[in-house]
Amino acid sequence: MLYYLSIKGGQKLKGSVSISGAKNSALPLLASTLLSKNKITLSNMPNVVDVKTLTKLLENLGATKSSEGNSVSIDTTTVDSACANYDIVRKMRASILTLGPLLARFGHCEVSMPGGCAIGQRPIDLHLKALELMGAKIELKQGYVVAKAPEGLKGATIIFDKVTVTGSENIIMAASLANGVTKLVNIAKEPEVVQLCEVLMEAGVSIEGVGTANLSIVGSYGELLDMKDVKVIPDRIEAGTYLCAGAITNSKITITNVIPKHLESITLKLRQMGFDFEIGENSITILPAGKIKACDIETSEYPGFPTDMQAQFMALCTQANDTSIIDERLFENRFMHVSELVRMGANIKLKGHSATVGGNTDLISADVMATDLRASSALILAALVAKGTTKVHRIYHLDRGYENLEGKFSALGANIERLEE
Ligand code: EPZ
Repeated sequence: MLYYLSIKGGQKLKGSVSISGAKNSALPLLASTLLSKNKITLSNMPNVVDVKTLTKLLENLGATKSSEGNSVSIDTTTVDSACANYDIVRKMRASILTLGPLLARFGHCEVSMPGGCAIGQRPIDLHLKALELMGAKIELKQGYVVAKAPEGLKGATIIFDKVTVTGSENIIMAASLANGVTKLVNIAKEPEVVQLCEVLMEAGVSIEGVGTANLSIVGSYGELLDMKDVKVIPDRIEAGTYLCAGAITNSKITITNVIPKHLESITLKLRQMGFDFEIGENSITILPAGKIKACDIETSEYPGFPTDMQAQFMALCTQANDTSIIDERLFENRFMHVSELVRMGANIKLKGHSATVGGNTDLISADVMATDLRASSALILAALVAKGTTKVHRIYHLDRGYENLEGKFSALGANIERLEE
């Protein structure tokens, strides 16, 4: 069944919204259960499609799963296959996160090449090069990565040409079971990578340099890990999306169950745009701005401004008092939301990886189409202030990464409903 979201603009927001667990932490943590000799429970799991897809993949490999509320227990002692098939991987490219753990545990595996997606070609060359440096034999056969390391992976020194989040996570997991010490240089420092390292250290893996760009990991020589239960950290991108909803409607709202430190680049940018905050230990209240000031944004790896917030800020910049420049530095095609925003009256010009966003725009409702996860949320933010009722179609993109989005927005007072196409 296909649905769309119908949003009537012009409504101020009020109240508070509770942020769910981070999709981009839940995914590597699910993959890491393949390294465990015992069943473990992941709590504060977001109820989103991508998490369900990866859980399904683990069950297809033979793992057993039970869930209660937003906790998922996974037992991979029953895993009897090391082949992650195309049908599931094509639905969710982060399934490539099973490559490192499967290879480290079984000494061989076949994982479908992830498809590209709307925001870019999304290569995995850095994942594969790193595994080869650890002694793996990698072949690409009929769209599958066929990897072999019959004597296990060996510790190595790996310098990443580019910072890659899932590439770092894949190799950190592989190195945890490797024979010897692996030194990783130029890895991602995202909070989700840090949580994965913390979980592995809890399980007895010695890792030095957590939170920095350089790690040293002492492998277990193939010994499976005694993993402990873990609570998934809050989703800083969902949190940032709701802060932008407060900002674009110039409302006072509070987001709860967050780690403010993880949002520093986002709140700093909003401060530059004229907003102020009341920041608690696990909550942030955004206060309306007198006027919304234009800003310049350049996306970069954590702790820089997150690419996953670029689309949302583009929608916000249409309401600023002047022209803003947004530079997308990580992905080659992450401007799919621009044409849809232009259809709502936005004045945006693209030149290469840079977007010039005119301010003082009266957005008008329209039928628009979501193209990827974060682009969809930008269309919702625009619809909150557009004149009339906007229909956002293809919202299966949203359901991949936002839990109960219309329920949370309705609770904040937005005029939004999910209707059948
Ligand atoms: C992760 O994707 C996130 N996904 C993305 O979030 C996020 O946008 C991205 O990191 C950047 O922060 C998950 O964590 C599941 P990358 P990932 O490898 O790991 C190039 C969302 O909305 N690259 O860090 O796939 C790549 O082309 C999603 O939740 C190579 O060239 O991103 C890109 O230009 C969207 N070769 C850059 O590195 C490689 O082998 C960063 O990509 C790997 C990556």
